[in-house]
Amino acid sequence: MGYPHKSHPRETAVLSKYFGDAEARTLDGWKKRGGYRALEQALQMAPADVVNVVKDSGLRGRGGAGFPTGVKWSFMKIGDGKPHYLCCNADESEPGTFKDREIMRWTPHALIEGCAVGAYAIGAETAYIYVRGEFTECIRRLNDALKEAYAANILGANAMGTGKRIDVYVHSGAGAYICGEETALMNSLEGKRGNPRIKPPFPAVAGLFGMPTTINNVETLAAVPHILINGAEWYKAMSLSSPKSTGTKLFSVCGNVARPGNYEIVMGFPFKDFLYDLCGGPLPGRKFKGVIPGGCSVPIQTMEEAEATMMDYEGFVAQGTMLGSGGVIIFDDAQSIPRMTARHARFYAHESCAQCTQCREGTAWTTKILDRIVAGQGTFEDLDTLLEMAENMTGKTICVLSDSCATVVVSALQKYRHEFEALITGKRSSSVAATPGAAA
Ligand SMILES: Cc1cc2nc3c(=O)[nH]c(=O)nc-3n(C[C@H](O)[C@H](O)[C@H](O)COP(=O)(O)O)c2cc1C
Repeated sequence: MGYPHKSHPRETAVLSKYFGDAEARTLDGWKKRGGYRALEQALQMAPADVVNVVKDSGLRGRGGAGFPTGVKWSFMKIGDGKPHYLCCNADESEPGTFKDREIMRWTPHALIEGCAVGAYAIGAETAYIYVRGEFTECIRRLNDALKEAYAANILGANAMGTGKRIDVYVHSGAGAYICGEETALMNSLEGKRGNPRIKPPFPAVAGLFGMPTTINNVETLAAVPHILINGAEWYKAMSLSSPKSTGTKLFSVCGNVARPGNYEIVMGFPFKDFLYDLCGGPLPGRKFKGVIPGGCSVPIQTMEEAEATMMDYEGFVAQGTMLGSGGVIIFDDAQSIPRMTARHARFYAHESCAQCTQCREGTAWTTKILDRIVAGQGTFEDLDTLLEMAENMTGKTICVLSDSCATVVVSALQKYRHEFEALITGKRSSSVAATPGAAA
């Protein structure tokens, strides 16, 4: 099957260049396209020099937090006598995000090469790719590619004939959102329940099996070979705006929009052009109402905010939200924000690992109250209670799952309060267009 989304002339295809090109999945096909040259180059360099190139490029983590990758790698103390580990976070469970899946489906060798380079740079002989269990095709493609890489001695005890050992393993998760959180991921990989761990100690000090560990997202690691081959300056020069946001970024687009799909653009691209030109604007007869631009855990933007946004880490923050994982969820004027918010809260309540009271109780009660409001049985006091609970769910737990639930609720209430109030007073909100099957 080909790749359904045709490239737009304003896209910059670096990571997505070979999406839809089945030959790129094989080792021969990948090598013909320049594959494994970066690993060969890295293995001739000192690990610290590889780290420095990545640091200089300004690459930041694509998993959500945007932490500078080279800086994270430099926390690993080479020569400390301990085994080091690299974990690739391929859990991709943030609703609205589906770009790592495409990297693994179409270019599995790109990720394996990124893992091998990353492992070498941090002094690890072993990398684990922790893949969301439902991604059966990705798991199959990665395992096929690994078999080829081992048979060609690219990996193993004598990686590329250099005498250096690099092993890469694929590990399947069992389908829990929380296992995308890096410390829960490590617990799961160790065979334990996927509960987040208290930090400190940070993974670079005591991570997988208690040893120094680096965790990076799929897109982050897949970008590394391009940086090594083309140079840090090339990567930085692509950005249209902030020097703190460099390179390209894959955005997954879903919801009420003409052309959903994955788009790769340079950092600093105008969000307005992205939404109306690349993604084709709203569906016929509809208007956009709002956007959650970075996966479901970031604040919702009004269209006024979204249309003023430059798509990079700083640009999204300047307009009241975050770039997050790059999952752009779009709502049009037929959607009810309270219903959408209740749906989000139910997701977090279901996925809470339940270790922390504020999260276990907060996400559950938030869901109950929002369901009550949507059912037309809410009160004005409920709105105050939601905000008060959100405060108790922010910055008080082991991980930020409960913060994420609160973020959606607070931003929806701040920006679309009239829709909640309309449900409480028993009126259809004027900002929800009447369509068959769409409740206000
Ligand atoms: C509840 C929760 C879920 C997360 N899910 C993912 C995920 O599916 N994939 C991912 O790469 N990062 C996820 N993260 C972020 C990771 O904890 C971590 O920051 C990231 O993998 C680091 O990689 P990076 O520096 O390359 O971005 C999640 C975080 C939280 C709190």
